[in-house]
Amino acid sequence: METTGRLDHVAIAVPDLDAAIATFSSILGSPVSGRERVESEQVTVAFFDLGSARLELLEPTVPDSPVGRFLSQRGPGLHHIALAVPDIDAALKRCGAAGVETVGDAARQGAAGRQVAFLHPRSTGGVLVELSAPGT
Ligand code: CO
Repeated sequence: METTGRLDHVAIAVPDLDAAIATFSSILGSPVSGRERVESEQVTVAFFDLGSARLELLEPTVPDSPVGRFLSQRGPGLHHIALAVPDIDAALKRCGAAGVETVGDAARQGAAGRQVAFLHPRSTGGVLVELSAPGT
């Protein structure tokens, strides 16, 4: 069982995934550890393994998508942080009880087969927060 609240990843929205991969490969001195198209989020993601957490780069697959609109409105930048929780349904229940607003209702399939849900920046100090739990 995962530790509640562990930082799973930090995600940056980028317009050009290949260019961003090249940049962060140079910064970290290591190759990208994974790359995947996530249809549910309309993004292609690339991960760098940072040991206890990961760096996630997000490129939208279409302009009219959440990350595409983020890029056109704000430009590239920090998009979300992801906190690992052992049980996503239990976490969403706690959020509901505490009045923390979610983006969408239910957990869905994210990258690497994990269950993910997003908490609205209005409730979380202005930062989009992803909850991430092991897939079942
Ligand atoms: Co993420």
